[in-house]
Amino acid sequence: MNNVYKITAVILAAGEGKRMYSKLPKVLHKICGVTMVEHVINCAKEIGCEEPVVVIGHGAEQVRETIKDVKFVMQEPQLGTGHAVMQAGEYIGDNDILVLYGDTPLVSADKISEMYQFHKAGNYGATVLTADLENPSGYGRIIRNHIGLIESIVEDKDADQEVKKVKEINSGMYFFKGTELKEALKKLTNNNAQGEYYLTDALQILKAEGHEIAAFKTNDPTEIMGVNNKLQLSEAAKIMQSRILKSHMLSGVTIIDANNTYVDKTVKIARDVTIYPGCILEGSTMIDEDCIIGPNTTIINSILNKNVTAKNSVILDNEIGESTTIGPFAYLRPGNVIGRNAKIGDFVEMKNSNFGDNSKASHLAYIGDADVGDNVNLGCGVVFVNYDGKKKYKSIVEDDCFVGCNVNLVAPITVKRGSYVAAGTTLTKDVPEDSLSIGRVRQENKEGWMKNK
Ligand code: UD1
Ligand code: CA
Repeated sequence: MNNVYKITAVILAAGEGKRMYSKLPKVLHKICGVTMVEHVINCAKEIGCEEPVVVIGHGAEQVRETIKDVKFVMQEPQLGTGHAVMQAGEYIGDNDILVLYGDTPLVSADKISEMYQFHKAGNYGATVLTADLENPSGYGRIIRNHIGLIESIVEDKDADQEVKKVKEINSGMYFFKGTELKEALKKLTNNNAQGEYYLTDALQILKAEGHEIAAFKTNDPTEIMGVNNKLQLSEAAKIMQSRILKSHMLSGVTIIDANNTYVDKTVKIARDVTIYPGCILEGSTMIDEDCIIGPNTTIINSILNKNVTAKNSVILDNEIGESTTIGPFAYLRPGNVIGRNAKIGDFVEMKNSNFGDNSKASHLAYIGDADVGDNVNLGCGVVFVNYDGKKKYKSIVEDDCFVGCNVNLVAPITVKRGSYVAAGTTLTKDVPEDSLSIGRVRQENKEGWMKNK
């Protein structure tokens, strides 16, 4: 949105959220990897509010610790939505004021931006985001006048039978003229069924002063959906998830089964990536072009460069080079940097290791705290013995080495460039360059032994 106008966003997030039955403050529950209140903050930022004002109360300390780049104001005790906005008074001035709720995470910047244009075009004192709901109970009802402007908003608890039939509800999201709102807030009282300071009364005050109050109705009720319990949390997550996947698909990602793919809002995926069913991509994960992910693969906070294949694997805090293949059934624990064209095959576990270009660990290996160079082959059953029961040590296998099957590398140890370690060897000292190292009991065949037994 072009920023000729200035908007200050006030996000209400002081409520308790009893029905979540959780130790965590309600607005810190996550949807697709991002807390509900951050979804709302991001929406405000997207339309140009640099530092939204967040009104906190219940669980304030935890919210403060988790959320960055906003201004906080405290509301203690919580005496209603009007009272909440009053707490943000010091930030309410000439700017237009946008009020959002911290527990309404599906609101989109596109919708709010459209609403703002409508608000400005009509020069309204306030504009209310509304929706028609099949079941409007619990919400404030919108009463319109003969030209469609808002006559009043009646809270469910204050409504009579006639008003309860109205299907158009107040979402709780508004634009206000700043200076006018500031004046109106001074006049709020708590004369109502709940003994609360209603923000909706500010609309009534503005109207009495001759301002027009408009309704901007969305035809997508998911935009205004509030989350009050874990069932709604899961419903909201489902809607958010389908929006996220849709946007990836529309920018060139192939998703085989969108009902069975879970991608955090924070994940980046380039075009021509294919994602098979059962995948979970979380955190700061970035997947570059032409990667093939899944089926059944979990990737958290990892970077996959171009053309990586990762099947049936778990990948946590890793960086994986171009054209490398992972799995099926690999477990890449945190801290690996894996090179290009490498292969990490079935039942390989790796952690805190570097693994060079064109190197392979094709099956059944444990690679821990290791530095493995380029063009290294680790045979089946290779184990980096990195732990002596007290401390962990590092192993180095330099470029062009071949480590045979069932070799144990007892760390700390270095296998120098170009060496060959025979199958079954337990290495306890360094191997010089270009050597053959063999350390196992020589085989003895006792002929006829079975017959004579
Ligand atoms: C409010 C509206 C109602 C609307 C509904 C939409 C008023 C008087 N009523 O209902 O018309 O249909 O929202 O959901 O405004 N909050 C605070 N401090 C408070 C009270 C609330 O921060 O003292 C926050 C809550 O955390 C929540 C939001 O404001 O995010 C809405 O509070 P809630 O109590 O659910 O709204 P109602 O007053 O019932
Ligand atoms: Ca209430």
